Amino acid sequence: MKIAVAGAGYVGLVTAACLAELGNEVICVDIDEDKISSLNGGIIPIYEPGLEELAIRNKNRHRLAFSTDLRRAIKESDIVFICVGTPPKENGEADLSHVENVARTIAEVMDSYKVIVEKSTVPVETGDMVAKSIKAYNVHKADFDVVSNPEFLREGSAVSDFMHPDRIVIGSGSEKAVKIMQELYMPLNVPIIFTDIKSAEIIKHASNSFLAAKISFINAIANICELAGADVEKVAEGMGLDKRIGRHFLNAGIGYGGFCFPKDAEAFIRISEKLGYDFKLLKAVQETNFAQRKLFVRKIEKALWVVKGKAIGVLGLAFKPDTDDMRFAPSISIINDLQGEGAEIKAYDPKAMQKAKEVLKGVEYCSSPYDAAKDSDALVIVTEWNEFKEMDLKKIKSLMKHPLIVDGRNIYNPDLMKKEGFTYISIGRKDVV
Ligand code: UGA
Repeated sequence: MKIAVAGAGYVGLVTAACLAELGNEVICVDIDEDKISSLNGGIIPIYEPGLEELAIRNKNRHRLAFSTDLRRAIKESDIVFICVGTPPKENGEADLSHVENVARTIAEVMDSYKVIVEKSTVPVETGDMVAKSIKAYNVHKADFDVVSNPEFLREGSAVSDFMHPDRIVIGSGSEKAVKIMQELYMPLNVPIIFTDIKSAEIIKHASNSFLAAKISFINAIANICELAGADVEKVAEGMGLDKRIGRHFLNAGIGYGGFCFPKDAEAFIRISEKLGYDFKLLKAVQETNFAQRKLFVRKIEKALWVVKGKAIGVLGLAFKPDTDDMRFAPSISIINDLQGEGAEIKAYDPKAMQKAKEVLKGVEYCSSPYDAAKDSDALVIVTEWNEFKEMDLKKIKSLMKHPLIVDGRNIYNPDLMKKEGFTYISIGRKDVV
């Protein structure tokens, strides 16, 4: 099939490359000329395992092209995916101006039947608005259908998530559009849920909010474990073996970050409010999440007693491993708070340092975890990269001024840390002192 993907951001690029890999002819479009010329030169602007290889392979086979010409891409396609950004406005609502722009361009250009697929995370009822807007500006009076097909990709495993999803959601009121979408996703051979547009939109909000709630729930349990002298890792294991609960997203830590959960939960709270429902539960999920970062800083302060003038090595800056994404990363507020107390920060991240330099100033960026540990009064684990799990702890200890590790991701076994002679403070477990 011939496909146009509007938006060469994280979702658009992954969608375009994967749909090309499935044998379709895809044009991925963005208004950012520099980005498109980099992509045409084989440079992928984000770090996402497997994406570069996939994009280059399909580009060389002429199944994937990058362009700034949205009008041509729409004209030449059977399906148009809307994958443009929906950044938060100041009040937490999603800004839909990019989505509306694409909808209007589609309306002005299309002169034959198109399936318009809403893939960006958007508030419920956006599908209806897209359809209304296209109808209003439909210059050639061409036939079209709008489909909601939310993405469930995780950064760091997006390509594999696209190729092996748990489910595909297709929300549409048109049999014709459903058939086309079904054919498109046939090669993936996974369960497809067919529904109306609004339910599809709510499936996306509800899924992200539920996962966020799981994380805040286990973080609240971690705090209770600390007070009671229990071990949250064991508690999560014991809960997670119940199939109704499941072990995924029960990792206690410093709370969720990234461009999805914090913004999507906020947007869902606003959407619910507009619809007339006060979503208190989700508000508490967000509050618990942000309090968790503050509690982590309190732990560091308590362990150091006086923070002013102390050198703190920070391991991990990205909001999670296997990505260079710094958007809404917990590391930002944690480092800002510690700098506010007068700490000197030495930081290391395997992939995110370039992006971190744009948002975190006054930080000494290091070449390795050992470099960050050197002469530090404390080492703080913020992102659970495998590289940190495999560090030579004896070497780390010998390099530090004082062998103190405050671990926001519970990557080490407390018994091992005791044996290695560290003061080790983690989340929801007894301190090793
Ligand atoms: C999330 C969802 O998992 C995807 O399904 C969805 O498509 C995506 O948002 C989106 O809406 O675009 P992502 O933000 O890439 O994906 O990352 P996750 O792996 O879900 O992690 C989110 C945050 O939760 C991270 O900060 C992570 O460290 C944290 N987390 C995750 C925990 O603190 N504990 C856990 O047990 C799991």
